[in-house]
Amino acid sequence: MIVLFFYALFLMMFLAGLLWILIPAFYGLPSIPTKPERIRKALKLVNLQPDEVLYDLGAGNGRVLLIAAREFGARAVGIEVGPVQCALIWLRAVAGGFGDRIKIRWEDYLKSDLSEADVVFIYATSKEVMKSADHLKNQMKKGSRLVSISADFPAWEPSAFDDRDLIFVYEMPPKRGNLGTYMLKNAK
Ligand SMILES: C[S@@+](CC[C@H](N)C(=O)[O-])C[C@H]1O[C@@H](n2cnc3c(N)ncnc32)[C@H](O)[C@@H]1O
Repeated sequence: MIVLFFYALFLMMFLAGLLWILIPAFYGLPSIPTKPERIRKALKLVNLQPDEVLYDLGAGNGRVLLIAAREFGARAVGIEVGPVQCALIWLRAVAGGFGDRIKIRWEDYLKSDLSEADVVFIYATSKEVMKSADHLKNQMKKGSRLVSISADFPAWEPSAFDDRDLIFVYEMPPKRGNLGTYMLKNAK
C-alpha cells in the first residue's frame, strides 16, 4: 500500500514537472524567473503605486506578483499558460495571505483582456515581444505603463530605460521611435 502511494506520488510529480517544462516550450517561452532584485528595480522604474493593477504576462512561479503585492501594495494579476505554474501561484498567494490581492488566469496572454491593467510586466524573448506588440497596443488603456525585461519593442520609444539591467518602460499609447531616439533625447 505504501509502495503504491509513493509510486503514485512520484508519477504525479513527474507529470507535473513534464507539464512545467513542455507547455511553456510549446508556446516558445521557457519558464525562467526574473531575479528578485531586477523585479524590484523594474517595478520602481515603472513607478508602480499602491492599489494599482499590475499584470504579469507569463507569470511563471508568481514571483513578480508576490513582490508587487507584498512590497508595492499593488493588486496583481498573472496570465499564465502552464496549469502547474497556475496551481503553484495560487498556492503561494493563498499561503502568503495575498489570496485577495493576487489573481491568476490560465490563459494565453496574446488573447487576454488587458484593459484593466495600470502596469503590464513582461519578461520574454525579442521574438515573443514583437509578437505581443499589436495586442498590447490595442488592449492597454491610455496612460498605462508597460515594463519589459531584457527585450525592447523596436518600433516604440521608451519613456525610461535602465542600461545595467536592460529594463524598458513604455507609456501607452506608445510613442513611435526606438531606443536610439530615446538615447539621443537623453544624451547629456
Ligand atoms: C520567462 S518566464 C517569466 C516568468 C515571470 N514573469 C518572471 O519574470 O519571473 C515566461 C512564462 O511565460 C509563460 N508563457 C509563455 N507563453 C505564454 C503565453 N502565450 N501566454 C501566457 N503565458 C505564457 C511560460 O509558461 C513561462 O512561465
